[in-house]
Amino acid sequence: MNTKTNSGAGRPATLALFDDPPREGRERLGPGAFVLPGFALPFVDALLPAIEGLAERASFRHLVTPGGFTMSVALTNCGALGWTSDRRGYRYSATDPDTGKPWPAMPESFTRLAGEAASAAGFDGFEPDACLVNRYAPGARLSLHQDKDERDYGAPIVSVSLGMPAVFLFGGHARGDKAARIPLVHGDVVVWGGEDRLRYHGVLPLKDEPHALLGAIRVNLTFRKAG
Ligand code: SIN
Ligand code: FE2
Repeated sequence: MNTKTNSGAGRPATLALFDDPPREGRERLGPGAFVLPGFALPFVDALLPAIEGLAERASFRHLVTPGGFTMSVALTNCGALGWTSDRRGYRYSATDPDTGKPWPAMPESFTRLAGEAASAAGFDGFEPDACLVNRYAPGARLSLHQDKDERDYGAPIVSVSLGMPAVFLFGGHARGDKAARIPLVHGDVVVWGGEDRLRYHGVLPLKDEPHALLGAIRVNLTFRKAG
């Protein structure tokens, strides 16, 4: 007998109940910054095929920074605006510079997750117009930076971790401020806004710890109100 289904009915709802995380928990990183452990887990079945679909239309690529370095993280975007970089600078663009076409539309599951996570962190009414999709292989890292290419800083950042674990660095308002090391696993969401909106953050080089669903990859979705 399958102990995970209701007697006779075989309803998958019961299984989903076992798989779903507690969604009420949140860990405070600052007055406007929270980790929401496992918050994205109920969305994963919708997120993964959507990520594959959008990568077919707007490929992951390794961008060059204005300083001439090639990023170890590969990225693509969806939504009205996409974040890009080249020798001329960082910017948001309504079109994919690789194809000249608009970025793929933001899937409904993405928008819903971002809005619900923002609300859980105290930021109601978050309507992102940009989702940066970062893909990390073992060894890839993201050095400390501020998210400040957006038009205004009134909206929070919502950051969703999928796949391999990572250590997120959450620093202060100056690059040299000591950064907290926050372990993040598949399904975790970090939200920062308000007075924490411009905190420096980054990701330590990823260890090779393959994930059951995604293999040796970490995908991060960063939702922003850019325009
Ligand atoms: C970012 O800062 O854009 C991404 C952070 C992360 O991958 O967790
Ligand atoms: Fe960032």
